Amino acid sequence: MLSVEFFAGKPGGYRVLIGDRTDGLIPPLLSHIHGCKAFIVTDSTVETLHFNKLREYLSGGGIETHSFILPAGEQNKSIDQLKMILEELLKHSFDRDDILINLGGGVVSDIGGFAASVYMRGIRYVNIPTSLLSMVDSSVGGKTGIDLCGVKNAVGAFFSPTLVIESLEYLATLSESDIRCGVGEIIKYEMISGLDLLGGYIGSGMIGKEVIAKCCSIKKEYVEADLLDRGKRKILNIGHTFGHAFEAASGFALSHGEAVALGIIAETRFGESIGAVPEGLSDAVIKRVSDCGLVTDYSSYKEAASVFIEHDKKRNGDLIAIPFCSSFGSPFIEQVRLLDAVSFLKNG
Ligand SMILES: NC(=O)c1ccc[n+]([C@@H]2O[C@H](COP(=O)([O-])OP(=O)(O)OC[C@H]3O[C@@H](n4cnc5c(N)ncnc54)[C@H](O)[C@@H]3O)[C@@H](O)[C@H]2O)c1
Ligand SMILES: [Zn+2]
Repeated sequence: MLSVEFFAGKPGGYRVLIGDRTDGLIPPLLSHIHGCKAFIVTDSTVETLHFNKLREYLSGGGIETHSFILPAGEQNKSIDQLKMILEELLKHSFDRDDILINLGGGVVSDIGGFAASVYMRGIRYVNIPTSLLSMVDSSVGGKTGIDLCGVKNAVGAFFSPTLVIESLEYLATLSESDIRCGVGEIIKYEMISGLDLLGGYIGSGMIGKEVIAKCCSIKKEYVEADLLDRGKRKILNIGHTFGHAFEAASGFALSHGEAVALGIIAETRFGESIGAVPEGLSDAVIKRVSDCGLVTDYSSYKEAASVFIEHDKKRNGDLIAIPFCSSFGSPFIEQVRLLDAVSFLKNG
């Protein structure tokens, strides 16, 4: 079992435990929730695959367990579903000593984590990520939230989990496209760190726990330095300014990770066009994205994406802060004119 400790967001921090098998991770989970009621938030797909086993582990440990099954999909990271989660928590008399468990991908941990942040002004929660993307990214760092009026993560809170349990067993039931979605986010960590995280995956199609732990460690450095995303943490948004816009422009037909990989390509090209990034870097980025089996052509989303860029949370008047890399491993943040970004998407 590997362990990454986050010293941010919670007094004493929290541990991210990463193991090949779920049963090896259950003892620390049970001791964490000992004496509390547990409320599992999962989605309809993960429910059929992994929910029963977790519930059995909890009942075997003598834990009273309730649950909420979210219909799978980004469109359910919504205020309506949030309301239903909160009402269920109330109905089962959960109080501030009890604990919420998110079993699922980033949609589940975002909405479940947000529910935990507002219910009774905050109850503890554990993330058990089941998608690759949520293992390497969304289950750690304490960003929670929901979408509103088509704007991604328009409402949310910084609210950290108290424990994260990551079992590679869950990866076995993901489709290849779900794996590629997580790979898109791992390419982001390669850009930031300059490390070769995906060489083994390109060769074998497998992701090991060392790679997942490395991604969490890279994220940890930025989260600990800047929990509230005011400065250094914005580096983790590489590919996300344009990526979120592509994701929305596609009507969520693009997965988050695919959109982020396209965003990394488009932002690198945009950086080249305004002289912020050395010419030629985008060729290397496109090669890496394509070697990983992800799409590299965003032309059909450009026009619609330019409208979404204008709603980006990172916008500050006429300027927008975009993280770029001058090479793999050398990230920096540049304030660019919103008009330039919009016109690049329309005409670039
Ligand atoms: N909070 C953060 O820091 C952060 C960071 C990155 C992304 N996100 C958010 O995460 C979301 C994307 O996460 P995601 O890609 O995990 O999406 P997701 O939660 O929608 O999961 C993708 C699909 O995989 C299914 N699934 C999950 N685990 C499975 C398993 N083990 N076997 C089979 N199917 C499984 C889900 O049911 C879903 O249909 C977005 O909403 C994004 O905004 C948040
Ligand atoms: Zn992301």
